Amino acid sequence: MELQGKRIVLGVTGGIAAYKAAELVRLLGKQGADVQVAMTEGATHFVTATTFQALSGKPVYLDQWDARMPNAMAHIDLSRQADLILVAPASADFMARIANGLADDLLATMVLARTCPLMLAPAMNRQMWENSATQRNVATLAEDGVALIGPACGEQACGEVGAGRMLEPEEILEEVITFFAPKVLSGKKVLITAGPTFEAIDPVRGITNLSSGRMGYALARAAQHTGADVTLVSGPVALPVPAGVCRVPVRSALEMHEAVMQAAGQADVFIAVAAVADYRVANAADHKLKKDHGGVPAIELVENPDILADVASLPAAPFCVGFAAESQNLEAYAQAKRQKKKVPLIAGNLIQDGFGGDDNRITLFDDQGAHPLVPAPKYVLARQLIEHIAKLTGNR
Ligand code: C5P
Repeated sequence: MELQGKRIVLGVTGGIAAYKAAELVRLLGKQGADVQVAMTEGATHFVTATTFQALSGKPVYLDQWDARMPNAMAHIDLSRQADLILVAPASADFMARIANGLADDLLATMVLARTCPLMLAPAMNRQMWENSATQRNVATLAEDGVALIGPACGEQACGEVGAGRMLEPEEILEEVITFFAPKVLSGKKVLITAGPTFEAIDPVRGITNLSSGRMGYALARAAQHTGADVTLVSGPVALPVPAGVCRVPVRSALEMHEAVMQAAGQADVFIAVAAVADYRVANAADHKLKKDHGGVPAIELVENPDILADVASLPAAPFCVGFAAESQNLEAYAQAKRQKKKVPLIAGNLIQDGFGGDDNRITLFDDQGAHPLVPAPKYVLARQLIEHIAKLTGNR
């Protein structure tokens, strides 16, 4: 529920990408946004108002003379109630009209009458996008403070390849979430480790930890949404790279250690979420071990470096945050870990509460004591942890 209570007017204009706006309504709604759809006449040639009505659960507004508005001022009423007007797809014609302040249909009138921010996701043929008239309009709109997201490059409905394709609904959703997130980490460099590490025994076998990587990836997204420049050093997981985040893929604890130590010098905040293997195999084999070759193999282990403790002991250490996943005595173990590794903040959770799932229950431990957070989806907790970090580092 990343957009809980946000009122968004989704404007849909005439273009083939209008079919993707249907999915966008669903994604925005799933995150708790209250979505009101307004369509231009052109848009209705691609998708019907019924589709949007069914998905948003509300009547769709089509023209400024709509008799359902008691005072015949739909444009004022609708845009005054909104926290954001998002137009996706925004056609070349629509951008030209609003760049020039025209109010010749309901959506353009709402845009002109708005008191809230405006975000456009352009979608058009690449030649139309490159045309100097469109580029002039884009420059005017940017100067007017309109947020333009995309367009992306790629294959277009017309068969051509180039810039002009609307961002995918998931990408637009990320932009909207970013738009609403308070920028408490603005300009900060945040380094995060996530996922498990894998310590090879031979080329096909290894020792690893159970870790989905979800909490670390949620933190990377949350940090990115709140204005940080994020580097995510990730062990092997099956998760997509969050938009705008720089991911450094690693496998073993030693690789993770090296990647982190390289980036730690520039970081303002370091969050160690990875489930790093405590030991690696000292006698890893170069070739696959065979079962019928002289009995049970002996695996010799050596200790891995403690990445978090090493970063925390750097002379100009970033603000360090650790995680403690315990199966019992959470507070005592978490506080002991905080002192031992010399980190100001530890997020603790009981393994039985959050492993592999979307939700988690965590408690933050700092100099002031324990701060239990209400159980919630990992992204929601990640945002709260970011808020706490911002408070402790003086950004809030
Ligand atoms: O000591 P323990 O593994 O319980 O500590 C957990 C915290 O320390 C986590 O934040 C984890 O990412 C970090 N850690 C690390 N390097 C290790 C072991 C743990 O960064 N070798």
